[in-house]
Amino acid sequence: LIPPERRISVIGTGYLGATHAVCMAALGFETLGMDVDTEKVTALSAGRLPFYEPGLEALLREQLASGRLRFTTSYEEVAGFAEVHFSCVGTPQRADGPGAELAYVDAVVEGIGPHLRRPCLLVGKSTVPVGTAERLASRLAELAPVGRDAEVAWNPEFLREGFAVRDTLRPDRLVLGVASDRAERLLREVYAPLLDPRDGSEPVPLVVADLATAELVKVAANSFLATKISFINAMAEVCEVAGADVARLAEALSYDPRIGGRFLRSGVGFGGGCLPKDIRAFMARAEELGVGPAVRFLREVDEVNLRRRTAVADLARELVGGAFRGRRIAVLGAAFKPDSDDIRDSPALAVADRVQREGAEVTVYDPKATDNARKAFPALAFADSVGKAAYRADAVLHLTEWAEFRDIDPGELSGTVARQRIVDGRNALDAARWRAAGWTFRALGRP
Ligand code: UGA
Repeated sequence: LIPPERRISVIGTGYLGATHAVCMAALGFETLGMDVDTEKVTALSAGRLPFYEPGLEALLREQLASGRLRFTTSYEEVAGFAEVHFSCVGTPQRADGPGAELAYVDAVVEGIGPHLRRPCLLVGKSTVPVGTAERLASRLAELAPVGRDAEVAWNPEFLREGFAVRDTLRPDRLVLGVASDRAERLLREVYAPLLDPRDGSEPVPLVVADLATAELVKVAANSFLATKISFINAMAEVCEVAGADVARLAEALSYDPRIGGRFLRSGVGFGGGCLPKDIRAFMARAEELGVGPAVRFLREVDEVNLRRRTAVADLARELVGGAFRGRRIAVLGAAFKPDSDDIRDSPALAVADRVQREGAEVTVYDPKATDNARKAFPALAFADSVGKAAYRADAVLHLTEWAEFRDIDPGELSGTVARQRIVDGRNALDAARWRAAGWTFRALGRP
């Protein structure tokens, strides 16, 4: 029999949970993934990922074959299986306001609590408003037959879509929010392969903190990243009226190691299931706590970000002669970023939708996100190649920087479109190459 300390359970098998479960199994733990969604459990058990993430499906299959990983829909089974339970459910934006929806996080505690009959640790990984872990800890102690010996810890996750496996197995840092020595010891054991690697690689930096600090680290990190992007996009707005070039400006800034070049790429702005909702939830929580003014600048961050979507549409409208009605527009990209099929709060689709509402005939192409995009935006047309999307287009909008789009031969595409006009909404295409092939090339924040 495998001792409980070599066993891990992972509750919630969405993006975060599926990745975590697979990676925990890869680190050698007997891992039980749990979800209330039978379809997800069936798919994962059969080695199918319900979303696209490079390298993860192959690793899932490998771990299933090893016998270390399996999935269930039963809280009772999870409770009996392991001593350490990771909770990886989502905390989306609430339907009725800017705050975080905590129904799923609460449901985990309600679901597993009554089954906890021996000392254990429930480790939250979700992004939550500060104070949530403390509240969950009290509720868990009320529900669990073992009482206060069912503890809560917080271990925020910083993985990026597209790099999920690498970010989980080799994170930049580990943050452990704990309320007891026992919780710290258990988590150090779980993460021993990263903290004390046997393969000669550098140990992952560790920060041990209280629950509230651990919760805050996550929203602070995402707020900083969002601010950095909006900073450079605000500079793009200034560049546009000053006739300056934001790409050169960003390059010059990047050589200052205090600033650094990462997350300084100007374009149509940030989207996805994390940055936008996290800054909004943070503002809402700060208001509740009476420190609203401390993070009010995030409102500007959000507004700068949303203005970029308007800016791309404005640029495109100008390019096609002042109005979209009757124009054919090709949109390259639907995912919120490349190497992902995630369309949550995608700037590309927000722009496509707006242009279509203004009367254009819009055709979208994305290498992976078409199915998701079609469901969310049934009024848009979708094509299965760049060429088909661009057929007889009056303008092409490049809005998600897939590698495939960088490799487009502008000369080849010239014969397909009605007019050779392109807007690079991601500052990722080679302007000189497109212009040399006869295209009118426009980009945000650049002359
Ligand atoms: C983000 C964070 O980067 C992760 O560290 C965090 O764990 C995650 O949220 C989360 O909270 O779960 P992710 O949403 O996968 O990860 O995507 P990012 O790579 O951060 O990109 C976010 C958005 O910013 C994308 O729309 C991207 O196109 C945009 N972006 C990024 C820019 O516009 N400019 C840049 O320079 C970088």
